[in-house]
Amino acid sequence: MPELPLQNTLEKMRADWDARARENARYYVNTATEEWTDETFFASGERTIAEEILTDMTNICQGREPKQMKVLEIGCGAGRVTRALANLFGEVHAVDVSGEMVARATRAVENLPGAHVYQNNGMDLSVIPGDNFDFAFSTIVFQHIPSREVIENYVREVSRLLRPGALFKFQVQGDTSIKTTEDDTWLGVPFSDADAVAMAERCGFEPRYRHGAGEQYFWLWFFKK
Ligand SMILES: C[S@@+](CC[C@H](N)C(=O)[O-])C[C@H]1O[C@@H](n2cnc3c(N)ncnc32)[C@H](O)[C@@H]1O
Repeated sequence: MPELPLQNTLEKMRADWDARARENARYYVNTATEEWTDETFFASGERTIAEEILTDMTNICQGREPKQMKVLEIGCGAGRVTRALANLFGEVHAVDVSGEMVARATRAVENLPGAHVYQNNGMDLSVIPGDNFDFAFSTIVFQHIPSREVIENYVREVSRLLRPGALFKFQVQGDTSIKTTEDDTWLGVPFSDADAVAMAERCGFEPRYRHGAGEQYFWLWFFKK
């Protein structure tokens, strides 16, 4: 059981994201509009895949066939990206701290037998069966997590589940002028380039590429050593 302040943050993340999901899940997942249809919402997930995955298949697949690959997703929300990942890869295992989001993501992938969605405790991947995953992905999730300890724990957990050489491609908040508090679950802790490199080293990754340091969308390519 985590220490009390951390336990409070985890409970707050779950409660706040459950409330956001009940109010307007798709808006809080992607604030581009308050009025997503099924079609536009899932098309935006396919666009994320087109921009972040299909442009980067050499690093991601490393010669493997996507349909033979096992992939992790952290913070699946309402299944926007999960569905697109499951259209491309053989197996997708996705977690989210919010049961309300998980219910929506589960419906989003109900016709995709390779997709599996789990509610987790907001800080580890113990709900995921197996290991030797080929790729892990997370977008617009860590930018909302107000605890450095939680983010680093996820990075360590992904390292535990990836096969050596595999890539964890993810986005963190890179604007270090942002002030955060542990009870605000909208603004996540920022990372400088040096913070990101040090975290990779502590968690068993080579931080081979970084893009967008200093910006909201700070992308990291961590390769498991
Ligand atoms: C803005 S949404 C993005 C969802 C999805 N990645 C996408 O791009 O469509 C952020 C998601 O992260 C989840 N989340 C926030 N804190 C989390 C945590 N500590 N562990 C797991 N999921 C978390 C929220 O419940 C929410 O579903």
